[in-house]
Amino acid sequence: MTGKILVAYATRYGSTAEVAEAIGDELRKADVAVDVLPVGEVEDLSPYRAAVIGSPIYMGKWLPESQVFIERHQQHLRTIPVAYFAVGLTVADGGAEILRKAEASMDQVRMLVTPVDVGVFPGRLESGRLSLTDRTITKLIRAKTGDFRNWEAVRSWAEAVRPRLSQD
Ligand SMILES: Cc1cc2nc3c(=O)[nH]c(=O)nc-3n(C[C@H](O)[C@H](O)[C@H](O)COP(=O)(O)O)c2cc1C
Repeated sequence: MTGKILVAYATRYGSTAEVAEAIGDELRKADVAVDVLPVGEVEDLSPYRAAVIGSPIYMGKWLPESQVFIERHQQHLRTIPVAYFAVGLTVADGGAEILRKAEASMDQVRMLVTPVDVGVFPGRLESGRLSLTDRTITKLIRAKTGDFRNWEAVRSWAEAVRPRLSQD
């Protein structure tokens, strides 16, 4: 099959970028060419036969840049298999209701382009890296800090989604 797979992401503090890289590494294991890029660096989707698009969750929502990316490219994205992923701290607590809320961060983009699959993964919060505003918010809501990323879960999801990205 010709064409590359795009893994595009938004990030504020880098943790979602690393999750995107891990997804890309897993997809490449099937000898597929994969580009892992911030959404702002992707202009032309014509080289891609499938796309995985993700964002961290901030205040229950995806970052606007990933959402805008999907809005802008929705016509093309509707013609190829697309999967979404979200990275959030609440996900680390598990629980069906928490997962449902994390998945709800993707409701709007799901309405624009229907994905073949969605993944939600725990993220990382390190107060030393945060902007003053973000640090204030996380203190107010007493968010826990640390790196809760689960690389095994990320890799297993990418492995499971890989065949679905090859569908026509
Ligand atoms: C101000 C702020 C708000 C956040 N809101 C949420 C949220 O609503 N749900 C959630 O699961 N995680 C939330 N998080 C945690 C981030 O999603 C998590 O730290 C993520 O890994 C950050 O990704 P990034 O490093 O790619 O920016 C929030 C973090 C900050 C700083």
